[in-house]
Amino acid sequence: MYSIKRILKSATWLLSRDPFKRRRVRQECARIAASLFGDFPLSDDYKLWREDHAFLNTYKKLSPGNPYSQDRKFVLKEFTKYTSSIPGYMAECGCYEGASAYFIASESPDTPFMIFDSFEGLSDPDKSDQENIGAHAYWKQGDLSSSELKLKETLKEFKNISTYKGWIPERFSEVKYERFKLVHIDVDLYQPTLDSLTFFYPRMTSGGVIIMDDYGATTCPGAYKAAEEFMKNKEEHIVHLPTAQGIIIKL
Ligand SMILES: C[S@@+](CC[C@H](N)C(=O)[O-])C[C@H]1O[C@@H](n2cnc3c(N)ncnc32)[C@H](O)[C@@H]1O
Repeated sequence: MYSIKRILKSATWLLSRDPFKRRRVRQECARIAASLFGDFPLSDDYKLWREDHAFLNTYKKLSPGNPYSQDRKFVLKEFTKYTSSIPGYMAECGCYEGASAYFIASESPDTPFMIFDSFEGLSDPDKSDQENIGAHAYWKQGDLSSSELKLKETLKEFKNISTYKGWIPERFSEVKYERFKLVHIDVDLYQPTLDSLTFFYPRMTSGGVIIMDDYGATTCPGAYKAAEEFMKNKEEHIVHLPTAQGIIIKL
């Protein structure tokens, strides 16, 4: 259990002029929560990206009500940068209001970027989307619906975007002759994740990256299952990041 001595020390550091110490207090608060709840995600707070105010302010503007995916958006931005000298287009399956698409587009504003979404939310979850998460599925059809208008508003400063409204994989055939260097898959469910991998994997250029947002999310067991099934007989291995993202770098 967290000791009184530690709490007193944190209180003194809170009043300190030293930003390093004040930051430490924040970390100690998380540690108190971890010790109270027994299991709470903790990670070292002294990281350069946590001082990237341009990134953090943009994130806050795009997702004011959701502080939980800053780390995933940062990873996405960095992989977009990583693919900057690789040939190919970019695509996203599942955009919601466009926060992830914004970070992709802003990092590579001259690369054609194709976005696929129903704009009617999730499709109907199936059995795979419920495995190991108890009697009630976390997701239901229509969750996370947003409008194409909202997406266009979010991305209005970019000229490299095309949107494909419809249920995945209905509109994939319209880009079947293209090659891709970056594909972000974020559809939460088994079937559209499998359909997205099936279509995009063979169209990736060498060195290109597929980022699966939900791969290691316990709320999205279908996304994990689809990825494991699809990659079973492939040369590449999925890199499972602590953010829960799954990364495939095409050989
Ligand atoms: C988690 S949200 C995407 C969040 C977004 N990538 C971000 O980080 O800002 C999931 C999106 O997938 C879309 N979606 C889910 N299943 C779909 C399907 N079968 N076909 C098309 N879109 C789908 C939903 O409409 C929703 O916009």
